[in-house]
Amino acid sequence: MAKVSFDGTSGFEVPRHVAIIMDGNGRWAAARGLPRGEGHRRGVEALRRTVRAAGEIGIGILTIFAFSSENWSRPQSEIRDLLGLLRLFIRKDLSELNRNNVRVRVIGDRETLSDDVRGLLEEAEELTRNNSGMTLVVAFNYGARQEIARAAQRIAEAVVSRGLSPADISADKLSEFMDAPDLPDPDLIIRTSGEQRLSNFLLWQSAYSELVFMPTFWPDFDRTTLEQAISEYARRERRFGGLAAAGT
Ligand code: FPP
Repeated sequence: MAKVSFDGTSGFEVPRHVAIIMDGNGRWAAARGLPRGEGHRRGVEALRRTVRAAGEIGIGILTIFAFSSENWSRPQSEIRDLLGLLRLFIRKDLSELNRNNVRVRVIGDRETLSDDVRGLLEEAEELTRNNSGMTLVVAFNYGARQEIARAAQRIAEAVVSRGLSPADISADKLSEFMDAPDLPDPDLIIRTSGEQRLSNFLLWQSAYSELVFMPTFWPDFDRTTLEQAISEYARRERRFGGLAAAGT
């Protein structure tokens, strides 16, 4: 069993890629008699803390589920709040992320976004393109089934126009057509707020991810909760469909 310590004295395996479903903003607010928008605003503060902590812990890639394809069904006022927070996050935090050598990537459907939101996301990617520190993947207007459908469209185009043979379409080949094909699959997926499902997040990439569900509402998430999730991950034995290592 991996020895887990965050004091830097004993070795533990830091997951290379951590993905987070940031859930519970609304319930956090309701429990305090506050509007849901306040929960989302505090959720952005939790996000700032988490990005900083992930960098310090040495996580290479952090993927966050910021806005799902299904979130458009929420009331217009809440959608406005969430889009406003994304704008604010990019305007206020982008230069700090850039200074900290963070590279921003975006996954999800860009085509149906308004020009200004798409422009902001692309500006963040462009500004940080050559950074070599942690990669922050923002899943925005993202749904995993939609991503798989996009990959199928792209692969069909490659069959038609680039001579790709249908016989050569394997699981690995399909992976090459996902939104961020160069990134490794997440080692650990965390969901806050006690819900225990993936809700259309990274369905293709999570085949062998460890899932950690935590009762904490997202606005209360911080470095300590992140470390708890990583400790839980370090206790798991990952076999990728094979057998346990000899002697364990
Ligand atoms: C879930 O809480 C969270 C979201 C719908 C989006 C996550 C958004 C943020 C953390 C803030 C926005 C950040 C950016 C960068 C856009 P919920 O509303 O589903 O909570 P509930 O299940 O308790 O109602």
